[in-house]
Amino acid sequence: MATKIYIVYYSMYGHVEKLAEEIEKGASSVEGVEAKLWQVPEILPEEVLGKMGAPPKSDVPVISPNELAEADGILFGFPTRFGMMAAQFKAFIDATGGLWRTQQLAGKPAGIFYSTGSQGGGQETTPLTAITQLVHHGMIFVPIGYTFGAGMFEMEKLKGGSPYGAGTYAGDGSRFPSELEVEQAFHQGKYFAGIAKKLKDSA
Ligand SMILES: Cc1cc2nc3c(=O)[nH]c(=O)nc-3n(C[C@H](O)[C@H](O)[C@H](O)COP(=O)(O)O)c2cc1C
Repeated sequence: MATKIYIVYYSMYGHVEKLAEEIEKGASSVEGVEAKLWQVPEILPEEVLGKMGAPPKSDVPVISPNELAEADGILFGFPTRFGMMAAQFKAFIDATGGLWRTQQLAGKPAGIFYSTGSQGGGQETTPLTAITQLVHHGMIFVPIGYTFGAGMFEMEKLKGGSPYGAGTYAGDGSRFPSELEVEQAFHQGKYFAGIAKKLKDSA
């Protein structure tokens, strides 16, 4: 049976979504892995989204909490809000109480990816503060460490992401993931899927 990887994200302006798409490609490049993209529900009213200049959502399906249990591994992605995950994603996680009670996600590998507006705006605190959610669910956090290689040491060009996972800088919204950030996202998907597959095959 194929190893099922779910890539579950919230994206208001499309930056996290772009990373999610690349992660999906990376995960799907591993033989025997089926990767699927999911969005979490929006919790802001249309009127507020309009005032925030948010474009319409893409066609990626919206996940319900119990569907997480179908996956062999899950990559969670979100934009930062004041240095930690956006409330939309937190609301989704807060709706997983049933899964938590039965520890249905325990032992499953989990990864994190993210977007911040600025440097120092949360590239590390955003994933770091999200680890508490994984811990309560008993999930196994799989960081990318420095497995991305030379790209981790880029000093000339702006590059998001860290050993915690792939990332990007949205700036004022007009900056989109660079080639290196896209490559890092692909790497995360592939690396994570390889580990999830090994774990499933050894079960
Ligand atoms: C209420 C609010 C708070 C934010 N807080 C931060 C922050 O603390 N640090 C930062 O770098 N960017 C911050 N941002 C910018 C977002 O992180 C940015 O819009 C997001 O990374 C873009 O990703 P998306 O296109 O996937 O929505 C904030 C944005 C909003 C609307």
